[in-house]
Amino acid sequence: MLIAGNWKMFKGPTATREFFASFSPPASVDVVIAPPYVSLAAAVESGGTIYAQNVHWADEGAFTGEISSPMLRELGVAGAIVGHSERRQYFGETDETVAERAEAALAAGLGVIACVGELEEERERGETENVLRRQVSVLPDDERLVVAYEPVWAIGTGKTATPELAQEAHAFVKSILDRPVLYGGSVKPDNAAELLAEPDVDGALVGGASLDPDSFAAICRAASSRS
Ligand code: 13P
Repeated sequence: MLIAGNWKMFKGPTATREFFASFSPPASVDVVIAPPYVSLAAAVESGGTIYAQNVHWADEGAFTGEISSPMLRELGVAGAIVGHSERRQYFGETDETVAERAEAALAAGLGVIACVGELEEERERGETENVLRRQVSVLPDDERLVVAYEPVWAIGTGKTATPELAQEAHAFVKSILDRPVLYGGSVKPDNAAELLAEPDVDGALVGGASLDPDSFAAICRAASSRS
């Protein structure tokens, strides 16, 4: 079981240190936290497993605003999220750039959580499997790659996929790429256990509820009772 917290654009270094001072997850669960770039160093000090929220495919170059795998490794960062739906929706990320980012990070020895998921209108039009096939089939088959299924209509909306719907999507993703699949989209302490009970739900990628050390630890405990 892997429980990952994506902090998005929340928490500078001071708030990051405060979080880790009161965060105590069970030892039996793998926990990853992905803070904003400026808080990575403060998070690494905690001794936990820290991921960035994105990573560029080049080692260095004229790419204003980007950060490379060697830079992350130098800080002690263990991996990166790629292809989050907010990157795809607001920052022009495509299946191709997501694949390039994932390949470079893996080649540099980082772990990768690659996010996929359909929009609400795609689900309504019955296109979920086509979208997932397109997004997943470009990802590298690598032992350090984990997929996160995050239906876009469930992110930050309080609308969670039902456990059955998540299970169906996860099984479909694994039929294309046989890697662990995390569920993301409004995972909270009170719905984590039922989602994590599904056979193909291998963990969670948590947004809002990962910002509070008590609620994130509660989600980690729900995972620990399944593992
Ligand atoms: P929420 O848990 O806030 O819905 O966010 C999910 C997410 O996007 C994690 O990457």
